Amino acid sequence: MKPLLIKNIKKLVSASQSAPQKVAGKQMKQLSSIDNAYLLIADHKISEFGPMDQIPSISDAEVMDASGRFVLPAWCDSHTHLVFPETREIEYTDKIKGLSYEEIAKRGGGILNSAKRMQEASEEQLYNDASKRLKEIMSYGTGAVEIKSGYGLNTESELKMLRVIKKLKEESPVTIRSTFLGAHAVPPEFKSNPDKYVDLVINEMLPEVGKENLADFVDVFCDRGFFSVDQTSRILEAAQKYGLRPKIHANELDFSGGIQTGVKYNALSVDHLEFTGDEEIKALKDSDTMPVILPGAAFFLNLKYAPAREIIDAGLPLTLATDFNPGSSPSGNMQLIISMGSILYKMLPEETINAVTINGAYAMGLQHELGTITPGKKANLIITKPIPSVEYIPYAYGENKVEMTILNGRIVYS
Ligand code: NIG
Ligand code: FE
Repeated sequence: MKPLLIKNIKKLVSASQSAPQKVAGKQMKQLSSIDNAYLLIADHKISEFGPMDQIPSISDAEVMDASGRFVLPAWCDSHTHLVFPETREIEYTDKIKGLSYEEIAKRGGGILNSAKRMQEASEEQLYNDASKRLKEIMSYGTGAVEIKSGYGLNTESELKMLRVIKKLKEESPVTIRSTFLGAHAVPPEFKSNPDKYVDLVINEMLPEVGKENLADFVDVFCDRGFFSVDQTSRILEAAQKYGLRPKIHANELDFSGGIQTGVKYNALSVDHLEFTGDEEIKALKDSDTMPVILPGAAFFLNLKYAPAREIIDAGLPLTLATDFNPGSSPSGNMQLIISMGSILYKMLPEETINAVTINGAYAMGLQHELGTITPGKKANLIITKPIPSVEYIPYAYGENKVEMTILNGRIVYS
């Protein structure tokens, strides 16, 4: 592959280089940028960059002119459920009429509805549908994504989902991380004895997932009406044997104790966080756990908004992700999430960009290879349409500001 030299970049923008792992608190307001810049890609990686007056002359390079355009790291979406059998607009009117997420779930809708369809779905169909979704999110600038199981709810179906994710990992240019979410909901046959389902997750599913090396992380929906702190703790403890670090669905529906439990088990992230108060913020401080907010789900379900400002102002890092799934967030568009983060959660434009790049990478354990424009990192980049400023990215909600997505040094969307 020939080196690719991008020249005349209006602005090259990335999290500041002094914070390669994650950015927190006041640092989140900072981005580093170079006006009128070049960037060189070689061997699928970022090789070097700088101001145009220092552009190297490379005889065999392909040259691209990015006049008027910004270059940023491709988005890192650290929380999705984008392998699913069917969309669920069937629940939509009930939702609009006022039924809550929990009420829909109690009627056998929600996650259980997807689980029924999942059991009938073929691996091939799931793979083809998910590939289309990956293509779509690439067109909005996503370069890395975490995908969860959790619509299987029996061993066979959970493994089926994870094998589909594994195949996507092997074949898609998007960098993918896989999470085992067997404890997403209690299936109807265990309704009278949910602990028995937890036993099944621990004694049957986890060993299989471990044996086939099908997941990077483990997740539990630790919330009112789903899984308790005790049940969550049992699963996370068992998962340690298989080297699966937790990423927890926590505090979406109540002060569930999920955040504290995540921190206790050194979770890589705790996600949702609508019910976050002083206790939860205190638990997150001095931890390595990344708080992740999912604005799409709160918007779609009309939930109260997680206290993003309090979290950042307490000196913590923050990530935004899509939660792309058929029930509570049927969109994988990270640009919309950036706008929501800014408009609904009062995050500054720079904070939202840090949240979806370096901090998103951290929430997938990918901060050393993705999330910033740094020599040696994978060349996962966005080239925008001609835009006036960074602020324009959250401001112009609904418009696709991405003109080209480059993943592993190759153009995958233009
Ligand atoms: O992250 N909160 C739990 N699980 C998903 C919803 C999944 C569904 O409704 O299908 C979420 O929002
Ligand atoms: Fe989720």
